[in-house]
Amino acid sequence: MGSPETKISPEIIQTDKNDVTVRLFRDEDLEEFSHLFNKDLSHIRAHSYGLDVAGFVTWAEDIVEGNPPDGVRLMMVCSDDKIAGCIVLGTEQDGTQNIAYAAGKDYEGQGVMSSAVKAVVDNEAKNGKDVIAQVKRDNLRSTRLLGRVGFKFDHWDFEFREEVYKYAHDDKAKDS
Ligand SMILES: CC(C)(COP(=O)(O)OP(=O)(O)OC[C@H]1O[C@@H](n2cnc3c(N)ncnc32)[C@H](O)[C@@H]1OP(=O)(O)O)[C@@H](O)C(=O)NCCC(=O)NCCS
Repeated sequence: MGSPETKISPEIIQTDKNDVTVRLFRDEDLEEFSHLFNKDLSHIRAHSYGLDVAGFVTWAEDIVEGNPPDGVRLMMVCSDDKIAGCIVLGTEQDGTQNIAYAAGKDYEGQGVMSSAVKAVVDNEAKNGKDVIAQVKRDNLRSTRLLGRVGFKFDHWDFEFREEVYKYAHDDKAKDS
């Protein structure tokens, strides 16, 4: 599949949507970011997704307090200059990146998160990293997103009772 339009720089990742970029969380984002997810968690709480979005906010607070979690990158998805959602990349023991993401309610259903996740995983693939995503079976929106981006089903995680999807960097090298 390949995405020649995705431009990469260390500070900011441009997606295939002109107005959507992804960058690392900055201290000054805390208020807007907390507001995005504290304002209305109903669309997230309505499902037993196992993804604790409030945990993202706690990570943000830890970063501001100078205690960034080990091997975790918290990234802000921005639409124009507003924070629209977040992506978290955690590092597994073998270096594989484990991705999680959430959209602010006002930004769901517009393709913002697919574009953002695609740009981020392509960036990881270019750096030789595989990316996995763990999804509950009933989380259909997330499963559709992973399919659109190009993840493939990898295995069933018995312990967490989740499907694990993979975006393998060597597949992407073959595609491009
Ligand atoms: C999972 C989640 C990020 C998906 O968000 P999303 O808004 O559906 O994803 P996208 O931004 O890629 O939008 C895609 C949807 O917008 C629609 N869309 C509308 N206009 C579009 C456009 N211009 N371009 C692309 N897609 C568009 C697509 O058809 C698609 O809808 P569909 O899935 O019903 O077909 C969101 O539901 C969420 O935050 N859920 C709670 C947290 C969570 O479960 N995270 C994942 C844990 S594994």
